[in-house]
Amino acid sequence: MDSASEIFSSLSITDGWASSSPNLRRNLSLLSPEEILLAKILLQEGQKHLFDHWPEPGFDDQRKKNFFNQVARLNTSYPGGLVSYISNGRKLLADAKAGKNPYDGFTPSIPSGEVLTFGDDKFILLEEAGVREARKAAFVLVAGGLGERLGYKGIKLALPSETTSGKCFLQHYIESILALQEASCRLVVQGQCEAEIPLVIMTSDDTHAPTLVLLESNCYFGMKPTQVKLLKQEKVACLSDNDARIALDPNDNYKIQTKPHGHGDVHTLLYSSGLLKLWQSAGLKWVLFFQDTNALLFKAIPASLGVSSTKGYQVNSLAVPRKAKEAMGGITKLTHLDGTTMVINVEYNQLDPLLRATGYADGDVNCETGFSPFPGNINQLILELEPYMQELSKTQGAIPEFVNPKYKDSSKASFKTSTRLECMMQDYPKNLSASARIGFTVMDKWLAYAPVKNNPEDASKVPKGNPYHSATSGEMAIYRANCLILRKAGVQVADPIIDIFNGQEVEVWPRITWSAKWTSIFRDVKGKVNQRCSISQRSTLVINGQNVFLDALSLDGTLVINANDQAEVEVTGCVQNKGWMLEHVDYKDYSIPEETRIRGFRIHKIEQLEVNYTEPGKFCFKS
Ligand code: UTP
Repeated sequence: MDSASEIFSSLSITDGWASSSPNLRRNLSLLSPEEILLAKILLQEGQKHLFDHWPEPGFDDQRKKNFFNQVARLNTSYPGGLVSYISNGRKLLADAKAGKNPYDGFTPSIPSGEVLTFGDDKFILLEEAGVREARKAAFVLVAGGLGERLGYKGIKLALPSETTSGKCFLQHYIESILALQEASCRLVVQGQCEAEIPLVIMTSDDTHAPTLVLLESNCYFGMKPTQVKLLKQEKVACLSDNDARIALDPNDNYKIQTKPHGHGDVHTLLYSSGLLKLWQSAGLKWVLFFQDTNALLFKAIPASLGVSSTKGYQVNSLAVPRKAKEAMGGITKLTHLDGTTMVINVEYNQLDPLLRATGYADGDVNCETGFSPFPGNINQLILELEPYMQELSKTQGAIPEFVNPKYKDSSKASFKTSTRLECMMQDYPKNLSASARIGFTVMDKWLAYAPVKNNPEDASKVPKGNPYHSATSGEMAIYRANCLILRKAGVQVADPIIDIFNGQEVEVWPRITWSAKWTSIFRDVKGKVNQRCSISQRSTLVINGQNVFLDALSLDGTLVINANDQAEVEVTGCVQNKGWMLEHVDYKDYSIPEETRIRGFRIHKIEQLEVNYTEPGKFCFKS
């Protein structure tokens, strides 16, 4: 008798566990002891239907083994295994069927946080505090999403964030982290600073391989490969009914149907990977979470990190002013009848009814500032490492989940399609105690938030006044932010014109871009430009270099400045040429590369002045 049969017979004597599934019972001799234990779990958890179609041993044996390989993966990748997954599923599905409101018993109120104004004295001090802390930070990029709304054939991280420099999102992010690392080390007064800010990228089966290829084929964009770690999230089993019966793949009945579990997986993976402990022993203090297509974010990071450190926030949610009823979650303090409180994101469609049900007769309305008092959550979080670790160790990294079944009819007895449990990164604070220091940092929207989520067709249908969140608006937002920053530093930047690309009306500012190392904070910008500089609307300015200073530059055309780190270059005078023009293209013109046509324009480079400084030294360029 082999060991599998022994286990089987001992299990069968004590439990009679396999009697409910004669088909499985007949096949037990094919299974390893571990697989038999998994089989037992499945039967005990009401999943006998998974074996109803299993033929006698000798038929489909390899496929039966493959089935258990997948079951083993699903069991190990979920905290508490499949038993927990199924039991959580049953509970959440019962709540959903009963129409239970997750906010029953809670009263909303306005949480406390910081509202910052770009460029004022407080902002500048916070940026410096943030840069100082940056060497004690780790960055975590969640990039496992399918990107269905954008519909781009590649991964979103590989898309150019803007097409003037052509740098993709991942390059922009890595260069921004390296620039922060350098700036942070420069602030260390004594001794050598050898900080290497870690970057974790959460991938999924859909994004893992292309993310790795993107990094490897570009030498990790200048980061040490050891600094970057990829953690792959697994999908979870789909559930086909209110009893949480696991669904089989419609195209392969030896495979469990799976779907993404959501970006909340990042907490589980960070915990189970052991990285949090490593970071703690390396003296790190902060973990910063961010998303795949928000190029503006790094303009908001230094000041936000400054807020975390000066306010001692364990959780700091980055936010932007939000118009009442705008389709964006609001950061809200919820107090339960039993006295417990939490500060979390409440989805916009739940905030208004919640307010109305709890004594705010007008629901979600603007206050005297012209904005909702509940700031708009942009899903970028800064967590303090130590309390974060302590909290995750209580749950083995599991965070609150939800389920969103689409029912066939009002009886809620059956689903249109299978469902699954999901979790969101921003729900982490839900379980924190009332004493946890939770806050938010509100930044101007133009500075902090312009994600690329929607395809051109859907973006063009967005109701007027709402953000497009398209490749077009994402790129234009970068130029606008850079122009507004230079304006605030004194440069005379011309007003934008309005144009329409792929059916979206946008402001077109001068196309100004700079490499991350030119500046991480506003004080640097102020030290590198002056009010004697002017830039016309049709201009393009590209600054590649750390020590480039603009003095009385008058630009009407295109100027590209490339300088190595040891070259200090002062640029002055009048530059005028035909420049680079934006040429309209149609997203339905499939002869044009997808990266370009989804923006609705391409850059026609007619004429430019390009200056290059490859040697160390001090230089003055006068046109
Ligand atoms: P989005 O809400 O933009 O979702 O995710 P998405 O899956 O990328 O795009 P759609 O909804 O299919 O159009 C916000 C961030 O969370 C990541 C995404 O990669 C993005 O950075 N994410 C999302 C994950 O890492 N894992 C997930 O399971 C879902």
